[in-house]
Parts: sequence; structure tokens; C-alpha cells
Amino acid sequence: KSNMPASKLVLSIDQGTSSTRVILFDAKANVRHIHQIEVEQINQHPGWCQMDPVAIMSSVNACANAITVPEGATVAAVGITNQRETTVVWDKKSGLPLADAVVWLDNRTRETVAKLVGKTPSNNKNHFQRICGLPIATYFSAVKLRWLIDNEPAVQEAHADGRLMFGTVDSWLIYNLTGGVDGGIHVTDVTNASRTMLMNLSTLQWDKEIIEFFGFENVHLPEIKKSSDVFGIIKSGPFAGVPISGCLGDQQAALLGQRCIHPGDLKNTYGTGCFMLFNTGNEAVVPPSEYGLLTTVAYQLPDEPPKYALEGSIAIAGAAVRWLRDNLGIIQNAAEVGELASRVEDTGGVYFVTAFSGLYAPYWRDDARGCIIGLTQYTNKSHICRATLESVCWQTKEIVEMINKSSSTPLKRLKVDGGLTASDLCMQLQADLLGIPVERPSMAETTAFGAAIAAGLGVGAWNRQELFEGDDFGEVKVFESVIEEEERNKRFLLWKKAVEKSFVSA
Ligand code: G3P
Repeated sequence: KSNMPASKLVLSIDQGTSSTRVILFDAKANVRHIHQIEVEQINQHPGWCQMDPVAIMSSVNACANAITVPEGATVAAVGITNQRETTVVWDKKSGLPLADAVVWLDNRTRETVAKLVGKTPSNNKNHFQRICGLPIATYFSAVKLRWLIDNEPAVQEAHADGRLMFGTVDSWLIYNLTGGVDGGIHVTDVTNASRTMLMNLSTLQWDKEIIEFFGFENVHLPEIKKSSDVFGIIKSGPFAGVPISGCLGDQQAALLGQRCIHPGDLKNTYGTGCFMLFNTGNEAVVPPSEYGLLTTVAYQLPDEPPKYALEGSIAIAGAAVRWLRDNLGIIQNAAEVGELASRVEDTGGVYFVTAFSGLYAPYWRDDARGCIIGLTQYTNKSHICRATLESVCWQTKEIVEMINKSSSTPLKRLKVDGGLTASDLCMQLQADLLGIPVERPSMAETTAFGAAIAAGLGVGAWNRQELFEGDDFGEVKVFESVIEEEERNKRFLLWKKAVEKSFVSA
């Protein structure tokens, strides 16, 4: 249990793609109270995914209202972490959304991407990679914002009138928490801004050339701040008066929450998608574009320069489990996937490429579609469940290979967190398919804790040394590979063949 004075608690708001959770932490990463609500995604067309910004905000308020602060304690700060890239547009006059939020994994923007790539001088999707670290792809906010302006009349009108406010989910939450149309503050942090395509990685400001390329000169963009900074003060509700002093994208928050603060540190988070971040310290490394890795800001804490990371992104991880539950109905709840998968020794030769939103790293193919291959009459739902888990593990292996190519020392271990890591089987499969140990901390709320760290440091309520140099928070369980290299390589080749099959245009 914590030795910290009870008064130094931090409230963390983690607004994810699948759920909103609000957690009250002390500086030893003890969860003092938690409340979670599943959030609705609207899938109107194949490949589309949107969310109601008002419902997102209500889920945050409902979770915050359900938190009980222990007697005698006060909440020193609020930290925010969020699904990244998801694009929210609202009206400067009314403070109300102009459209549903376009979720990061939505790929309605395939044509927009093709048009934008065609507009670059060398017809090259990586044209802006040196400035913003990202390719032109359906994933990033700028592309979604262009689509909204081109296709949603209300957004178009607001744009023409100079009333169009843009933000990622963090901006939308902070704007509302600090008063909304009544004085709400329009801000974001360096990590979230680095996912829009619009921020220059060296200046940490909106990039004029890219803004002009997209035609966003007339859009109200949020002010970019450090990840630890006073963003604003909560205006009403049970936490009125508390400063919001931490804000990071959820994957960057998990990196901080896992205390991966040294160059070479790495973590992999298995949430709705799966995202590996590799700390590169003060240097924004831009690897050869064919590796398919993104360059991103890792975090910026008080009184220090920004830290950068390389990222390998997988669009579909837990989302595939949700699909087994909601669309196929072969499991009742997420935990069942591991239980069913463990009833068989292997997938029976089945490979499931979960390319529901195209394939992200290292391929970046927006024409890819999900495919299950290797089915026989012998195949049953256990094989499908096992192949679903393996799919995330194979995709992780592809990213580890690219990170190894970009760095002078090969990775020796993988730190993991996120919902799917609760499955021992999935983590064993991951160790088997990678051939390096996989380390799972018992502290499961690393993402929310990362935002709490930023917020605690932002107001000086928590001590840096104590957070980063103390012992691990709880036990770490290590999974070691039990299969031979030869078998691993043989199956990896079959996985790669399956990936080829997922590409719809030749
Ligand atoms: O980039 C998308 C990512 O931030 C979503 O995270 O936790 O909802 O999979 P998650």
C-alpha cells in the first residue's frame, strides 16, 4: 500500500475506442477508485466507424460522477488520455458538434488519400514524412478533417463562416470540461498533435506548408502544449476547480505508465488496436519508409525537451475479439476467447488476417480486407479463436522485425499491457512467435497511470524520482518461448502468404 499522503491523488480520464474509464490513483500506482463505461461505435457502412461526441463527453462525466474520493483526501490534478487521431469538429458559436467523430480506424477516406497523394509533387504518400513523421493514410486526423469539410454540408458551412473548430478527443474533452462554449479552452498536447499530420516534429507547432497543402488555413486548430502543463481548470461537477495538468495520446501514456523513459525502452499495448512504441530519446528518428514505422512524440514533461518514439501500429487487436462476440457470436465475452483457444493445440493450419480497416504497419495497404484461410471440415470455433489471437501476435512480430532493422541492438524482451494481455495463452503465443521473453506487469492500468504521471508532475504534486526510480509497481510475469526457431519460421512464412491474400487490389 502507498506511503504517499492521501491528499496527493490524481484523477485520470482514459477515453478509449471501446470504453471510457476514470481512475483515481496515488503516486504508487494504486487504484483508489475506478469506474468504466463501454462506449458505442456506429458502423453505418463497411469500413466506416464513427462516435457521437456528446455521448463520449457524457460517458466521461458519468464515470467522473461515480468516483468516490477517500475521506480526507483531495484530488490534486486531472490527467487526460485518449484514443488518438479520432477527429471531432464543432461550431465555435454554439460549442456543439457539427458531425459524428470519425474514429481513427475508419477508412472511408481511401479516395481522399488517393487524391491527396496525387497532389504531392512526386505522387508520394511519404512526401511529408520528414516533417510530421507520418505517411498520408486513412488513419490520421488531417485526412479525416479534409473528408468532413468536403462531404458534410454543416462542416462545410461552418468552415466557410470561420466557425469550424477542430480537435482530437483530448481537445474536445478539455474544451467541454473547462466550460465549452462558455469560455472553454481549445488546446491539445504534443503527442496528440503529432498524430494529426499537421504538426512539425522539430518545432512542435502546426506546420504552415502542410496546413496549406490540406487547405486548413481557415480552421481553428487547438494550441499545442507540453504533455505536462496546466491546460485549464475543471469548471463544474465534483472536480470543479481542479487543474487539468496532464494530457497524452493513450499509446504514449502507456509508454510513460510502463516507465519506458530511456532510449531503447519499448512497450506493446493490446487494446482495440495494438501499438508498439520504442523510445528514441531526444531524437526524432525517421526510418526508411518501407519499414512502415511512424515517428511520433512520446511525451514532453516539465522542464525538458520532447522525447520521441518509433511506432508500429496494428489497427485490429481487441476489436477482432469484439467482432467474434458481436458479429459472429461464437463467444459470449472477451475472456472466453482464450478459454476456447486453449482447447486446441494449434490453429489446425488456420490463419486469420484481421484487416478490417486495411492493414497498417508495416504494409499500409488500405485495400486489404480481413480473410480467414486454411479452413477444412476439421476447423471449429476454437481454431478460429486461436487464429484470432495469433493474428495479433504475428502482426506484432512483423513490427518487431522492423524495429530491429531501425535500431543498432535487437530487442531482447517485450513489455506488454492492455486488455488482451490478461490472456496467458495469448502472451505465451506471443513469446513463442517472437522468440524473446514477454513481460507482463501486474499493474494493468498503465495507460491511465501514464496520464496521471503527467498530471501529477504538471502541478508538482508527484515526485519524478519516486515515480521513475522506485521499484516496479507489483509483480512482473515473464513468458518464455517454448517452440523451436525452425517451426516459428515455417509458420511465419505461411502467415506472410495469408497477408498477401488479404490485398484486394493486386
Ligand atoms: O491510435 C489509436 C489508438 O490510440 C487507439 O487506442 O486503446 O483504443 O486501441 P485503443
